[in-house]
Amino acid sequence: MRIGVVGLGYVGLPLAVAFCEARQEVVGVDTDVRVVEALRRGQSHVEDVSPDSLRAVADRFHVSTRYAELAKVDAVVVAVPTPLTRNREPDLGPLVSAGTALAGVLQQDQLVVLESTTYPGTTRERFVPLLEESGLAAGKDFFAAFSPERTDPGRTDFTLRTTPKVVGGLTDECLRRAVELYELVCDEIVPLSTPEAAELSKLLENVFRSVNIALVNELAILCDRMGIDVWEVVEAAATKPYGFMSFKPGPGMGGHCLPVDPFYLAWRAREFDTQTEFIELAGEVNQRMPYFCVEKIARALNDHSKPVRGSRVAIVGVSYKPGVGDLRESPALRIMRLLREQGADVTYHDDYVPELAELDLRSEWPEDADCTVIVTAHPDLDVERIVRESVLVVDFRGVTRGIEAPNLVRL
Ligand SMILES: NC(=O)c1ccc[n+]([C@@H]2O[C@H](COP(=O)([O-])OP(=O)(O)OC[C@H]3O[C@@H](n4cnc5c(N)ncnc54)[C@H](O)[C@@H]3O)[C@@H](O)[C@H]2O)c1
Repeated sequence: MRIGVVGLGYVGLPLAVAFCEARQEVVGVDTDVRVVEALRRGQSHVEDVSPDSLRAVADRFHVSTRYAELAKVDAVVVAVPTPLTRNREPDLGPLVSAGTALAGVLQQDQLVVLESTTYPGTTRERFVPLLEESGLAAGKDFFAAFSPERTDPGRTDFTLRTTPKVVGGLTDECLRRAVELYELVCDEIVPLSTPEAAELSKLLENVFRSVNIALVNELAILCDRMGIDVWEVVEAAATKPYGFMSFKPGPGMGGHCLPVDPFYLAWRAREFDTQTEFIELAGEVNQRMPYFCVEKIARALNDHSKPVRGSRVAIVGVSYKPGVGDLRESPALRIMRLLREQGADVTYHDDYVPELAELDLRSEWPEDADCTVIVTAHPDLDVERIVRESVLVVDFRGVTRGIEAPNLVRL
């Protein structure tokens, strides 16, 4: 098959490479010239795709900024961003421009699958009508489906191939063709009756995580007041062999998914006169965490007879999760800004993020800091060295558990 992938980011690029590795011809289209030029030079901007894997498929992977290249493919997968507006409402801008551009090149018999996370109804009510501007009819002249992406950047125990792939087609024939496409790269396909069910299943997965993280975060704040070790509590509960799933507290949620996707559902629910209270409350609790973290840092400094103003605070780990350099919605950035507003001299260390242009900082090892704060613990972080060399350490990830030291404060 010849397959097109629109949007070559965290989702689209690994998928494009997987199709190439399954010996298909792939055309990747991205509107960002820098992304396309870097890929042409064999450089990957996604940690999960190595330059070696790009080199290995170079003869089957063609990248371009031009949608016209998609006129010759059999199937197109769309993985463009679905962010929020400033008012935290769905921003379908990239999706609408992708659909509009695709309509200009859409061909008879092509299959188009949307993978971007979005609210139920987007494929049928927003995306397909744009494609039909081509004059072709969905389900008859071309085929449309929704298949949510489940990738977890940095994860190695489950891959695209071993993670079951949910698919919902506009018609039975749309579903059949989409299943055939994904069978090339996934061992197990989960066919659903509609695109809406597939869209909602992805949101359920992310809302589930958001709500459970909010629950342990709320518990962490309570434990802080009560003087109980929240990590010990969570670990103890997790020894129950059934009926409990362990989630860890932390400085707040980051990334493109958890802080964003639940709002897509809450927004859509309002159209149906329904308030999704759990979802909104979870968002609020998680958004509050960076503020709580700054309070905790201020208290730790106070206990060392230091004010926040004028203190040097070194943040360790600024990406939103371990093992990746992704800064999107990272709680570390919020913590750093809040500390700066209170007059702290903020520095940071992160092997995955050499530079933070928006804060005019470069990564440096935390030296001479009044307080060193572990916000994201990358896999190779030397936690013992940090505790040994720092005057005061605040750990929001529980990675110092097992270390006894008077200069250590944990969430
Ligand atoms: N990153 C994740 O872990 C993850 C996991 C599951 C689902 N998703 C979902 O997948 C979708 C894509 O996310 P991502 O993390 O890959 O985003 P990303 O920002 O890493 O990549 C998106 C790419 O699309 C390009 N793009 C934007 N508008 C375009 C257009 N009109 N035409 C062509 N290219 C365009 C951008 O230049 C960018 O390179 C989102 O809906 C996201 O919610 C992401």
